[in-house]
Amino acid sequence: MGVKESFIKHQGQTTPFPLAIDVASAKGMYVTDKSGKSYMDLVAGVSACSIGHCHPKVVKAIQEQAEKYLHVMVYGEFIQDPQLQLAEKLASLLPKALNCTYFVNSGVEAIEASMKLSKGFTGRSEIISCKNSYHGSTHGALSIMGTETYKRKYRPLLPDCGQIIYNDFSSLKNITCKTASVVIEPIQGASGFITPKKGFLKAVRHRCDEVGALLIFDEIQTCFGRTGNLFGFETFQVVPDILCMAKGMGGGMSIGSFTTSTEKMHSLRENPILGHITTFGGHPIACAASLATLIELCDSQIIEQVAQKEKLFRKLLVHPKIKEIRGKGLMLAIELDDVEVCRDIVHKGLDKGLIMFFFLFTQTSVRLSPPLTISEDEIRTASKLIIDILND
Ligand SMILES: Cc1ncc(COP(=O)(O)O)c(C=O)c1O
Repeated sequence: MGVKESFIKHQGQTTPFPLAIDVASAKGMYVTDKSGKSYMDLVAGVSACSIGHCHPKVVKAIQEQAEKYLHVMVYGEFIQDPQLQLAEKLASLLPKALNCTYFVNSGVEAIEASMKLSKGFTGRSEIISCKNSYHGSTHGALSIMGTETYKRKYRPLLPDCGQIIYNDFSSLKNITCKTASVVIEPIQGASGFITPKKGFLKAVRHRCDEVGALLIFDEIQTCFGRTGNLFGFETFQVVPDILCMAKGMGGGMSIGSFTTSTEKMHSLRENPILGHITTFGGHPIACAASLATLIELCDSQIIEQVAQKEKLFRKLLVHPKIKEIRGKGLMLAIELDDVEVCRDIVHKGLDKGLIMFFFLFTQTSVRLSPPLTISEDEIRTASKLIIDILND
């Protein structure tokens, strides 16, 4: 049996047509397959590898931590340096009201725990999310997913889940005194990097304050620099009550977290005690990798250069078939308004050694979310290849 047949037979997949690159190694901007072919990675593990693959400082942090200890105790009982140092570093970079972080293993876990926290803290049950939002695939997150297609088969889901329409100010009236929290992505990811209209996120903040609901920002894709600020909320100048992170915070390791005030966080540990538990949450190796990633981003000009890199992509990606470049920073969607062209670009891109990918809810755009460390020369090379494919 060939490798691909074995992959299809013995491993669960997410689609019937996986890209199936047989990975040998990955370094910086490049993934190399077992035939020796290198691909420039314009997806970064879906916004996850923010400072490139196997960044030497991240690898060193992982190796050093692996020499000391791996898992020692379920999360939250022992003091573990990588966790505490990461929590302290985050607190030093965030507004005062966001000073306490709980580490988990993934984005969806951060969302699930935040939903629970908001219900426990407010004593209310309703969670509001946006139409066309994506917050993860487990039952709670699925309940607040903003499209019926992925929910239908798995009902019944959570009761008391309402919706607003992203960028529709009039829909904010759906947030009421029954609402425990509003979960919102500052930039809608799965819908194809839809950015907020001027004042929209501020209006959501205002409405939450009016009715006493908590505002939860899902920064799982925007976090650690992707919008040109460390967090998306800085870009849009709206501070949430709970900040969820994952993906880009890990430097390639699996980690998620949610940050809020110490007071709110404590509602998870009392009445009942052990109100939210995870065995491997905040694994010391993942926290060491995340801390190394954060320090590298803070000590370098990588985030500062994001806006310039966005500008360059926008300047070079001009073609009659490109209807729009959407998004912010290095989360950009090439809108082609054509499903076939979109599929072609991704597959021909692979032939030419370029990794691009699709979005979950839109079939007419191609995703560009490269490592933030992409160089201007690499942007030129990638853009030329994309334009060549479109000319073909
Ligand atoms: C905005 C957003 N929220 C939540 C998630 C879920 O994160 P994870 O896949 O780490 O569970 C994702 C994943 O793509 C995401 O893009």
